[in-house]
Amino acid sequence: MQRLVRASIDLEALRHNFALARSYAGRREVWPVVKADAYGHGMIEVVRALADADGFCVADLDEGLALRGAGIRQPILVIQGAHSGAGLAVAAEAGLTLGVHGAEQLDVIERDAPKLSAGALRLWLKIETGMHRLGLEAAAAREARDRLSGLAAVAEIGMMTHFACADSAEHPLTEVQATEFGMAMRGAQGPISACNSAALLTGRYPHDTVVRPGIMLYGASPLLGRSAEDLGLSPVMTLRSRVLAVKEVPAGRNIGYGATWTAPERTRIGVVAVGYGDGYPRHAPSGTLVRIGACNVQILGRVSMDSLTVDLRCAPEVRVGDEVVLWGRGLSVDQVAAAAGTIGYELLAGVTPRVPREYLGGESG
Ligand SMILES: Cc1ncc(COP(=O)(O)O)c(C=O)c1O
Repeated sequence: MQRLVRASIDLEALRHNFALARSYAGRREVWPVVKADAYGHGMIEVVRALADADGFCVADLDEGLALRGAGIRQPILVIQGAHSGAGLAVAAEAGLTLGVHGAEQLDVIERDAPKLSAGALRLWLKIETGMHRLGLEAAAAREARDRLSGLAAVAEIGMMTHFACADSAEHPLTEVQATEFGMAMRGAQGPISACNSAALLTGRYPHDTVVRPGIMLYGASPLLGRSAEDLGLSPVMTLRSRVLAVKEVPAGRNIGYGATWTAPERTRIGVVAVGYGDGYPRHAPSGTLVRIGACNVQILGRVSMDSLTVDLRCAPEVRVGDEVVLWGRGLSVDQVAAAAGTIGYELLAGVTPRVPREYLGGESG
């Protein structure tokens, strides 16, 4: 492998985080969320490493089909569902469970379900409880349940919702959503699913039968004000690269595009082979930390496409070729994300395809 930047994916850490999710879930089923290439970690590798998961959640049909194509046999929830008769048929054929969030999807199902064999469809109605993104209002969901339960092709009708503010442990909207969801579910028979990582860890909704953790499995914190380490989570991805060049910049000279940082004195700098072309956030400001050896050093100036510059004044021993950790072991992705004004999810999912992923810890536990 010639590229200096790489993402190491620690499958032992993934399994550790999954075990923690299971311990919080109690008797509920755990369906890891592996959409967006498992938040940048590699969907197939992640799913294979979580062989004892009860099911998986993906965003769209293509992701679900990719899992079936890789031989994954557990139930798979396609959160956004199908949008056409063809999509419905493909999902039925592949045994994918479809989210249903809108009237148009219901129309497609009613129109095309009679063309499918009996019991071919598993559907989870997404209930609008306060997120105001996707979902059926409670009354529409009850009506939908009545309509769908009359169709021979429909084998299962589940109910799901998604919390908007569960990351903030005391936020009152979670209680409002939980109450709304409880009312919409009256009389429901099938699976019930509400909890994301944050709601699972804070016990905000213990009444569901299937939980859908995502970010916690990858070792980042889903909760504002609580670090991943504090929650007992281990980072799964460590993004690493190496020092490409070391040099001294005279006092008064600028660094990088836009000349946004000026050396106040003669300054020893290092140039690291990683940039926004790899998914490192361009908007990470001067002062954002990277780790070299046992030392955290600061970024200076703007992040370029293939490199960034760091301040080596407090790390005189650093040489060309030394390893640099951008996030992961020793420097949490949440810390880097906070410095860059974003969230760990975006950084992890944003690592670009040109970054090789290397997998540590074997395929399954
Ligand atoms: C519908 C749904 N459920 C569950 C999750 C998992 O959330 P988290 O990664 O915060 O655990 C997501 C993530 O965006 C989602 O969209």
